[in-house]
Amino acid sequence: MTVKVALIGTGGIAKGHREHIAANDKAKLVAVCDIHKETAERVAGEHGVSAYTDYAVMLEKENIDAVFLCVPPFAHGTIEEELAAKGIHLFSEKPIGLDPAIAEKKLAVIKKAGILTSTGYCLRYLDIVEQALDYLRDKTIAMTHAHYLCGLVETPWWRVMAKSGGQLVEQTTHIVDLIRCLAGEIERVYASAALRVMGDVENLDIPDVCSVNLTFASGAVGSLDSSFTQPDMRTAAEVFGRDFRLGIYKNRLIIRDKSGEREVAATVNPYKAQDDAFIDAILTGDAGKIKVPYEEALRSLRVSVAANQSAASGLPVVLEPSGRSGR
Ligand SMILES: NC(=O)c1ccc[n+]([C@@H]2O[C@H](COP(=O)([O-])OP(=O)(O)OC[C@H]3O[C@@H](n4cnc5c(N)ncnc54)[C@H](O)[C@@H]3O)[C@@H](O)[C@H]2O)c1
Repeated sequence: MTVKVALIGTGGIAKGHREHIAANDKAKLVAVCDIHKETAERVAGEHGVSAYTDYAVMLEKENIDAVFLCVPPFAHGTIEEELAAKGIHLFSEKPIGLDPAIAEKKLAVIKKAGILTSTGYCLRYLDIVEQALDYLRDKTIAMTHAHYLCGLVETPWWRVMAKSGGQLVEQTTHIVDLIRCLAGEIERVYASAALRVMGDVENLDIPDVCSVNLTFASGAVGSLDSSFTQPDMRTAAEVFGRDFRLGIYKNRLIIRDKSGEREVAATVNPYKAQDDAFIDAILTGDAGKIKVPYEEALRSLRVSVAANQSAASGLPVVLEPSGRSGR
């Protein structure tokens, strides 16, 4: 069997998914949809498939097993519900939306329908993350230290709070998810944010610097800094414990302990691994290799949105216990 795939949203990130689907002999792109007609037609032309500007029409006309949902955070509407109603498996780009309460309702519909889900929190597919988790398995984490520092993303909706949720929700959420994976659930956030030096960018209303204090369910503490004021890009997710530290810096893992320092480079393309895992899950019915299904993505969204709320109110925000233990 070949998994018949369609895309909803054929902008920047969809390109990678198209390449991975094309390179996977177990999957076949059958249709694409974008509200921007020229984009939809150009992309469809590249793959010799049909172009649609209305996803509802596409879902009605085409025989589709799975959709890669690649619309901006503000544009999810009721797409997930309509896919679930048709039994179509869902890969949703991160963030899965802007409002955790809405995503919660979508999750209930998804669960009832029994469709498989995966999301674009790709960093967990780096093989060095497994190695990091192996190292941490018997350790107590004292503190985390993380950042996502880069330049302005040119996509017009990205700089508008109501459309993207700002950098924390749209981008730094990757590091929120990685830190949760390494150090366990985050129970409380206390953030401050400001628009300091990028205010002259047209139509921009999101903070360009943000610093978040984290308290984990385990009792560990941490910090996360986020900024798009930089000429280059640096990301880090560091974990500290007694006599050791471990850090993931883009695709490198560095562990320092009493036996010295060792560095390992990732050997997989996490974006491709993530897409292949989703296709395999559909073919086998085994979701085991999907690292961040919709429900897990919702937890990372909650933390990112809570940090925004804290920055706006000036008060700490306590997250509802997830029922999962910290590390
Ligand atoms: N996983 C990653 O590393 C990663 C990287 C980049 C972007 N993303 C995520 O992917 C999503 C899309 O980002 P992008 O950079 O591709 O944005 P983009 O603006 O380049 O593309 C989005 C496309 O969706 C289309 N669209 C909007 N509403 C639609 C609708 N209702 N039906 C069909 N098409 C619609 C737009 O016309 C546009 O072509 C965002 O959530 C972003 O955070 C993830």
